[in-house]
Amino acid sequence: MWRAVRLIHPAGAPGEVSDADLAELYAMTDRSRPRLRVNFVASLDGAAEVDGRSGGLSGAPDMRVFKVLRNLADAVLVGAGTVRAESYRGLSLGAARREWRRAAGLAEVPTLVVVSSALDIDTDVFADIPVRPIVVTHAASPADRQEKLAEVADVVLAGASTVDFAVALPALAAERGLRQVLCEGGPALFGSLQAAGLVDELCLTLAPIVAGPGASRISAGPPSPPTDFALVHALEDSGMLLLRYQR
Ligand SMILES: NC(=O)c1ccc[n+]([C@@H]2O[C@H](COP(=O)([O-])OP(=O)(O)OC[C@H]3O[C@@H](n4cnc5c(N)ncnc54)[C@H](OP(=O)(O)O)[C@@H]3O)[C@@H](O)[C@H]2O)c1
Repeated sequence: MWRAVRLIHPAGAPGEVSDADLAELYAMTDRSRPRLRVNFVASLDGAAEVDGRSGGLSGAPDMRVFKVLRNLADAVLVGAGTVRAESYRGLSLGAARREWRRAAGLAEVPTLVVVSSALDIDTDVFADIPVRPIVVTHAASPADRQEKLAEVADVVLAGASTVDFAVALPALAAERGLRQVLCEGGPALFGSLQAAGLVDELCLTLAPIVAGPGASRISAGPPSPPTDFALVHALEDSGMLLLRYQR
């Protein structure tokens, strides 16, 4: 049966949402409860990248929300594939954002948590990073690489031959106070988290671009059962839809 279709745009005056409004729109109601939020940008035809990077899909409105989501996170969780593809280099927050976090009672900078099996991660990723980063891996990952990465990051083992997120995420919350986790992708990591039934929220930017065939979707890996999500809000800027969904 059809329910009411809501016209969400045009609905208000352009430019009416300030960064403070965005922080409220994306705020977590209870920060003591562990929560996994996933953020992606996709094209109209479902592509998660253009020429191997998400930058071709993103734009100013998406980057604005991307920054707000980082501001609100205790930890930023990212797969090693994205670290390599997007040339991640630490987590840099300017003075104003660090001050905003301090005033909100948060650590100055969220903790970077990289997920990897092969541990083929350039240690430069962790250079000049203000908070000691974490590498989450499993017991069967290469021991010599675990040792090398332990020089620059805390190496956390969860699972025997693949990362068990049902172990890893509660450990981050209980042992390190990293309860509000923001996953910035990529598709393989999202697929694993979704398959484990751990995703509480999806923040999805729909970019007004048709990317054409060939690109990967935002989710990859073995099939898992579909999950229903409910729309919390939809914002529009320059044809980009900024959607917040909760499970
Ligand atoms: N549109 C967007 O918003 C967005 C966001 C992020 C990324 N991307 C795009 O996505 C592409 C990268 O895709 P991807 O799927 O390779 O990225 P990914 O999910 O970041 O990385 C996959 C890698 O993460 C590790 N990993 C993930 N799940 C694991 C598990 N359960 N156990 C152990 N290790 C696990 C493995 O690392 P090892 O290989 O080191 O073992 C795996 O190869 C790039 O083109 C990037 O631009 C798009």
